[in-house]
Amino acid sequence: MKRVLLIGGGAREHAIARALKESGEEIELLVFASNRNPGLLRLAQVYQTGAMSSLPAMLEFASTQKPDFAVIGPEGPLALGLVDALQEIGIPSVGPRQSLARLESSKTFTRELLREYSIPGSPLYHSFQSREGLEEFLQQLPDGFVIKPDGLTGGKGVKVMGDHFSSLEEGIGIIEEVLEEDGQVLIEEKLIGQEFSLMSFCDGEHFLHMPAIQDHKRAFEGDTGPNTGGMGTYSMAGGSLPFLQDADIEAARKINEAVGKALKQKCGAPYKGVLYGGFMATRDGIRLIEYNARLGDPEAMNVLSLFSERKPGDASAGFLQVCEAIISGELDRLKVEWRPMCTVCKYAVPDGYPDAPLKGLPLDVSEVNQEKVRLFYASVEEKDGVLLLAGSRAVAVLAMHEDVREAARLAEDEISKIKGPVFHRSDIGGDELIAQRVGMMASLRLK
Ligand code: AMP
Ligand code: GLY
Repeated sequence: MKRVLLIGGGAREHAIARALKESGEEIELLVFASNRNPGLLRLAQVYQTGAMSSLPAMLEFASTQKPDFAVIGPEGPLALGLVDALQEIGIPSVGPRQSLARLESSKTFTRELLREYSIPGSPLYHSFQSREGLEEFLQQLPDGFVIKPDGLTGGKGVKVMGDHFSSLEEGIGIIEEVLEEDGQVLIEEKLIGQEFSLMSFCDGEHFLHMPAIQDHKRAFEGDTGPNTGGMGTYSMAGGSLPFLQDADIEAARKINEAVGKALKQKCGAPYKGVLYGGFMATRDGIRLIEYNARLGDPEAMNVLSLFSERKPGDASAGFLQVCEAIISGELDRLKVEWRPMCTVCKYAVPDGYPDAPLKGLPLDVSEVNQEKVRLFYASVEEKDGVLLLAGSRAVAVLAMHEDVREAARLAEDEISKIKGPVFHRSDIGGDELIAQRVGMMASLRLK
């Protein structure tokens, strides 16, 4: 029996665990997480809690449990060098080594990598260590600019002109603050268009591209309110999105492939894991916003639910077989048949999220019909059979259907049955929002 170590305790990891278990082989699942995720607890044979920032704790668990391989869910342990440390004790991982994980942990590293290897897709950008030349650079950006601290910020440290600040002076004030705090700041041209995620599994040489997905980062309906980790996502049967052209998907895939190859050359080691490109479709083509070195959350729920529930001997690979092929460098030998379905995933989050989320209050998900949708647990804990909010995105509901409208309706119907002080976005995957996005892209392309 194969033993798989899973690091992380969110809904993404719940989806990873489920996909591993639906791969047509018996496995033993060993989970290390900072929280006690009720969904993962039901699937895990061994469950250890400990800090995600503690390499020694994760290593001790790994060396006692002796898994065949590890799957690293979140970015934190990748940036700490967990993959390198596991490798030293003979445990291979699905997830990049520390030097390669800079793709996510340093935005400047990624922009420089694209420049060095002449990979297209970067907006105009400049990294500053002082105010010198700042005003001149900002004057070259007529559509406005975006301010990015260099390190891991969970997508929440980025400030966009027009959204988070309105004037040049206000922007310069923020830049000065970041410079003072970090000694460095990345300024980018503000891109206008539609964002999407295109994730590719990579074994260092070969790529297996996943369906494109659109996330919704703003907390409230109609893309208003503060940025969040992601309120929900949708994907279409066939792998594209309604506002994209075939050439856009092709361009995004090519960028992921070029980046995977460039990383190997630059770092002298194969990138094994997920290349998650956050792209923007613009009037002038595809632009890269950022890379993540892991599966997206909520994107993992969409993609991993599209693996067919695999039976032993099936020709089509499941997620377990993909993980093994990433480790052995044989991704090119696999056949993955994505289900021809649309997916809609929505998070229920505590009232007050993301700025002042309620905590410790009960949540009742018992009426959600799990024959119709998949329920993934995130920031909730179970006490005496009662689910309690733990402060971040609480639970996710994933619906699948040939028709995206039906998938959105199903997800909405079921998430609405959750009782407690939580809210969700009812517009995700719905007609109105999709039509608006298609309309926006069409008018941009006309310009
Ligand atoms: P990041 O952490 O780089 O993903 O940035 C968080 C969010 O800021 C993205 O999802 C975008 O919505 C926005 N953003 C980042 N960079 C840009 C850019 N150059 N132009 C417009 N919006 C951006
Ligand atoms: N869905 C956004 C992220 O995983 O970073």
